[in-house]
Amino acid sequence: MKLGFIGTGALTAAIVTGLKSFADSSVSVLLSPRNEEIATGLASRFADVHVAPDNQAVLDGSDTVMLAVRPQLAHEVIPSLKFRPDHHVVSLIATISLQEIATLVAPAQRLAKALPMPMIALRQGATIICPPDKDIAAFFGKLGKSIEVEDAREFDALSVATATYASYFKYLDTVHSWLRSQDVDENKGRDYIVSLFKALANAPDTAPDAGFMHLSQEYATRGGINEQILRELADAGLFDIFAQSLDNVHKRITASQA
Ligand SMILES: NC(=O)c1ccc[n+]([C@@H]2O[C@H](COP(=O)([O-])OP(=O)(O)OC[C@H]3O[C@@H](n4cnc5c(N)ncnc54)[C@H](OP(=O)(O)O)[C@@H]3O)[C@@H](O)[C@H]2O)c1
Repeated sequence: MKLGFIGTGALTAAIVTGLKSFADSSVSVLLSPRNEEIATGLASRFADVHVAPDNQAVLDGSDTVMLAVRPQLAHEVIPSLKFRPDHHVVSLIATISLQEIATLVAPAQRLAKALPMPMIALRQGATIICPPDKDIAAFFGKLGKSIEVEDAREFDALSVATATYASYFKYLDTVHSWLRSQDVDENKGRDYIVSLFKALANAPDTAPDAGFMHLSQEYATRGGINEQILRELADAGLFDIFAQSLDNVHKRITASQA
């Protein structure tokens, strides 16, 4: 695969870092020159990664092109480029629909949307792909996990789950701050939380058929301290507010593509 990137920012850097973190010479990478510092940094760190003189040169030297500019710039940057009918285009721009991207990259025919996450740099996490695309699924599968979906609505709904990271870390920070307020050593508290939550993250794999509520009940001993916090948070409406926030993000994502 001759892989080109239009837009060399945080996400492109994460994908290229994951891709070049293991021995596989089947993919060469051609980067657009912006951001210059990130592009030249990647090219100097990794074999078979080069910086093209401009965006058109990326297209001309690639068979697969990932679009990784910010959504606000997409309509300015993409239509000025000449795509070939045989280009395989993957848009990483979550908030622009496939239909709209198709008009911007015509006459390219093969088109997919993908939503990788920054942890792809460590070959962790999952990338959602729509519509199913075996080559792109194989590419992202090597960098973590690929989840292919048929339906753009399913893609949008799954992408809402990616809006929960910051509040997850705030949850951990609340536990950590409370431990500090009890004079627990900062590093000890952090280490303890990290190891607990790593173990919890693995728990669903030990019971692949169990729903999350089953695990919640398993960890909430009747009359115990887990049950107490769960009940107090639920009674305060915290989970209803959280579900409402997911709805709000979903409305925002779907409205931006209307
Ligand atoms: N980061 C994530 O976790 C994530 C996750 C999922 C999807 N996405 C999507 O992926 C896309 C890229 O996100 P990002 O976080 O990588 O953004 P970013 O760090 O801002 O990267 C975008 C890059 O595009 C470059 N650029 C600006 N004008 C350009 C032009 N005319 N031609 C080519 N490149 C140009 C920018 O260079 P300068 O720095 O020189 O302006 C910037 O480095 C966005 O659409 C975003 O919504 C991101």
